[in-house]
Amino acid sequence: MAPSAWWEERVHPLERAWVAIAALVTVVFFSIMMLLWHTFGQQNVTGRAYRVNPKAYQAEVERFVQQYKVGEEAGQPVVAPPPGSHVYLLAQRFRFYPILRLKAGEPYILHVASIDYLHGFSITQPHVWNLQLYPGYEWVVRFVPREPGTYHIACNDFCGVGHEMMLGKIVVEE
Ligand code: CUA
Repeated sequence: MAPSAWWEERVHPLERAWVAIAALVTVVFFSIMMLLWHTFGQQNVTGRAYRVNPKAYQAEVERFVQQYKVGEEAGQPVVAPPPGSHVYLLAQRFRFYPILRLKAGEPYILHVASIDYLHGFSITQPHVWNLQLYPGYEWVVRFVPREPGTYHIACNDFCGVGHEMMLGKIVVEE
């Protein structure tokens, strides 16, 4: 008797069912849930990225800091720009510069860019934002901070030995 060939055997119904379930889950998460999360989950920032020269960006941030600086905290300038203005953040090994002080309920146009390596921009309150900061590009995001409080920005892309210490701060006041 010839040895039986596995490819001639019928696929077990259970195995068929698992393949179908896995395929269905993939389709649901990929096509439906991704759209729902983006639209209703408030997990993604809707912003735009533009090409920028890191040196020019750094100069722009410096101008911004000089213009609206109101104090200093742990060697970092604290900057309070007027509502409705363009607000700048710079990511650099291993800090976010400067510290921002904003007013709750007012609109701002946030610019954020890295001037050296790839960094991450992650903030969990009051919005869940995750941006990848590629050197040479700036993110421009319009937003309204709604809840007063102190919010910390964490770098969530490994950028070197000081990565864990790379934090930034945004203070939202009444
Ligand atoms: Cu910057 Cu990790």
